[in-house]
Amino acid sequence: MAQLWGGRFTKETDRLVYQFNASIAFDRKFYRQDIEGSKAHAKMLGRQGIISEEEAARMIEALDGILSDVDSGALSVTEEYEDIHSFVETTLIKRIGDTGKKLHTGRSRNDQVALDMRLYTRQQVQDTDALLKKLLETILDIMEGNTQTVMPGFTHLQKAQPITLAHHLGAYFEMFKRDRQRMADIYGRMNYCPLGSGALAGTTFPLDREYTAELLGFYGPTLNSMDGVSDRDYLIEFLSALSTVMMHLSRFSEEIIIWNSNEYQFVEIDDAYSTGSSIMPQKKNPDIAELVRGKTGRVYGALMSLLTTMKGIPLAYNKDMQEDKELAFDAMDTAKGCLALFEGMLSTMKFNKGVMERSASHGFTNATDAADYLVGRGVPFRDAHGIIGQIVLFCIEKGIAIDDMPLSELKRFSEAFEEDIYKAVSMETCVNKRLTTGAPGKAAMERAIAAGRNYLKGAPGIGAVHAPRN
Ligand code: ARG
Repeated sequence: MAQLWGGRFTKETDRLVYQFNASIAFDRKFYRQDIEGSKAHAKMLGRQGIISEEEAARMIEALDGILSDVDSGALSVTEEYEDIHSFVETTLIKRIGDTGKKLHTGRSRNDQVALDMRLYTRQQVQDTDALLKKLLETILDIMEGNTQTVMPGFTHLQKAQPITLAHHLGAYFEMFKRDRQRMADIYGRMNYCPLGSGALAGTTFPLDREYTAELLGFYGPTLNSMDGVSDRDYLIEFLSALSTVMMHLSRFSEEIIIWNSNEYQFVEIDDAYSTGSSIMPQKKNPDIAELVRGKTGRVYGALMSLLTTMKGIPLAYNKDMQEDKELAFDAMDTAKGCLALFEGMLSTMKFNKGVMERSASHGFTNATDAADYLVGRGVPFRDAHGIIGQIVLFCIEKGIAIDDMPLSELKRFSEAFEEDIYKAVSMETCVNKRLTTGAPGKAAMERAIAAGRNYLKGAPGIGAVHAPRN
């Protein structure tokens, strides 16, 4: 049991208490951040003359050694330490003796863990953003090739109006674009450094917090030390944004599952992304899409858990906050894994364009356009709606589509019908006449795709733009 705080105690901690309290099993995940933070702190202590420059240099060199040894596996982070902070500091002292004992000057584990978690999360925000960008690129590539692939658009999961595959996927493009914007927002708000907040009330040592913040790539230091050690808003925001990402992935997965079914056959998921059944030889199951949909729950769970943990905590640090890690790590790994797999599944998926087009032309998706046609011939819309309703009923009984009716038959419902009705209700016309911004018509869609390309080319990676100082 390696603890940093034995001085005041007369008894060993009970074994179960020790295990219950320890966080090494999960905070070892940010050993790199703990070491980077420690290096910045040591450098600042030397620069400020709080320790000598030589001592700082020795510490930094040894910390680098610890980092590369853990990276290479030469040194393992074992559970004999209470937490990652104890591991790093104890190992440093083992390696350079008394000089190592000066590292913790003007620092508390409270601001240290606040820093580590923030550094770790900041990287996760960037990684998630990069995965979202890749997914957007794949979606846009598919859109580009499918501005003329007609398919039914649905409301209430009932065929409504014809759209194109490009248009359908374009909706997801917008969703994941907003997800990226949320990542950038979170980054901008969270990128301030809590190190130097001490246990809660800062420190009497003349720390240069601006300098450590700069060394660690932050915009500046946090401005209240109590808040610095106890703020987990950024993590709640990130978990919330990840929940939204998962909600989007889950909706998309649900559609793919439906489209991949025998009844629809709009798409075929690649063999590499499907699984078989142990009993039914004919099966090819969309397990990846189902798992993405299923895993959404645990990401939501992490958000609910942290919101609940934080709601009753008085200022400043309390041990409850240690609970910010395990589920958050799980949510981060889950969301990243789902984004990567989903992108792979989408980019290898086959779209059965013929099936989609046939489905659009059966199911009266052109009924609105037929009514609009009559309106163009001077029939009031409400009457036109009623006439087409009767025609649809007639067609259902006969098992035919509106376009299958001869003109003479159509005229029995309204004299306003002429030969040009067939062109007016063809799938191509129905789609390509819709040219308002955001609509599926070819020209409108091409504008949207160009805007999407521009966005992907122009949007700076997260962290590229520096926000004003805190
Ligand atoms: N393992 C702790 C956490 O994750 C580190 C901070 C410990 N601070 C303390 N005062 N016990 O929150």
